[in-house]
Amino acid sequence: MNLNKEVLQSFIHNPFPYLEQFSQGNNVQWVHLFNTSGWLVTGYKEVETVLKDGRFMKEIRNLLPPDQIFTPPAHLMPAVMTVRNMMLFKDAPDHTRLRSLVTKAFTPRMVEKLRPTIKSLASYLMEQRRGKEQHEIIHDFAYLLPVMVIAELIGVEKEDRDQFRIWSEAFIKFIDFNTTAEEWEAAAPHVEEANNYFRELIKKRRLEPANDLLSGLITAEEAGDKLTEQEIISTCLLLLIAGHETTVNLITNGYYQLLKHQDQYEKVREDRSLLSNLVEETLRYDPPVLLTSRWVGEDMNLFGVEMEKAQMAFVVLGAANRDPAVVERPHEFDIIRSTIKHLSFASGPHFCLGAPLARLEAEIAFETLLDHFHQPELMEEPTRRANVAFRGFETLKVKAEVKI
Ligand code: HEM
Repeated sequence: MNLNKEVLQSFIHNPFPYLEQFSQGNNVQWVHLFNTSGWLVTGYKEVETVLKDGRFMKEIRNLLPPDQIFTPPAHLMPAVMTVRNMMLFKDAPDHTRLRSLVTKAFTPRMVEKLRPTIKSLASYLMEQRRGKEQHEIIHDFAYLLPVMVIAELIGVEKEDRDQFRIWSEAFIKFIDFNTTAEEWEAAAPHVEEANNYFRELIKKRRLEPANDLLSGLITAEEAGDKLTEQEIISTCLLLLIAGHETTVNLITNGYYQLLKHQDQYEKVREDRSLLSNLVEETLRYDPPVLLTSRWVGEDMNLFGVEMEKAQMAFVVLGAANRDPAVVERPHEFDIIRSTIKHLSFASGPHFCLGAPLARLEAEIAFETLLDHFHQPELMEEPTRRANVAFRGFETLKVKAEVKI
């Protein structure tokens, strides 16, 4: 089914009834969606299996005969190569090599060390709101917090953050499911710009190393770990974008749900031990990444269907999170649930590298908002961003008195 503009808007606003309709009651269903045919995988068990099973791949190029491989127009190649060299789009062994170099920086222990820095950043941002009554939560707070943290970690100038937003918007358009040829053309120069920014920065760091992740990657390359310059650039850009784009959505989706569920707002305001439940239930119920994809790596019979090599699978994390086989009252937002199961950080070899950081940032963000925004009220019903895979809002306008 191809979604016309209105249906697409309605899907982005609330995809869950559509997903139920498309799946026709099956956890794995052949569909024609977003101009592509593929397997729509929506059950929890099935989504987890696809994510963990090494027969589902990221790189279609390795599955097709050379004459069937799509070659993008030459002027788009720099942007395409930037994306292609990200670990997120690689299979083993390249994926393993790229990932192992940055894993160390994101262990729960390393991330915990960032707690004081994140807390003081959140307090600083709140201080800027003092005396103001109207707030646009994304612009004034939820975007700035993770972008400043990840910029510091990688070693890029925080002052360039307005540009990061433009690159990030372009990148998520570039890789979305429903992107038109015109949108691809419009996004590519920004991806290329980001690529050039990092190329210049690498030159600087080679001359003058610093105590940051970028310098670490350069050292690893020089120590013979076989990271090409393009791989370093793509890794930095992936971390920069993945490091804030989704976390912004987690903070704003969660705060929005709290404002819509006043009883739960009161519960977590009074009992901060519920903060981690708030983070997990937001991830489950209103996930920052709704879906991802994989390619079937070989012919196989799985889940009672015949899958063929090079077919696509739409892997719907957000639907798995609402599978009635694993969660009671799946369509209710409830931070008091005894167990909260979700696949919002994926699973298997591509499991989100930044999950501990995202959780910590979101917890601190929610706590700061609860501490300092007094009697917050939504000023208007927010609009979702026009993206199928990434779920967030355009803006989130709130009226609140700030208490410091
Ligand atoms: C991968 C979600 C925050 C870095 C992923 C994937 C998901 C995801 C679903 C796997 C996609 C796939 O398998 O196709 C999220 C969510 C976040 C978040 C929901 C916030 C709420 C972060 C942060 C960072 C980060 C803060 C970095 C600082 C990455 C990286 C990968 C990844 C590098 C690629 C891993 C690989 O391919 O091996 N993320 N992410 N993410 N994420 Fe996150």
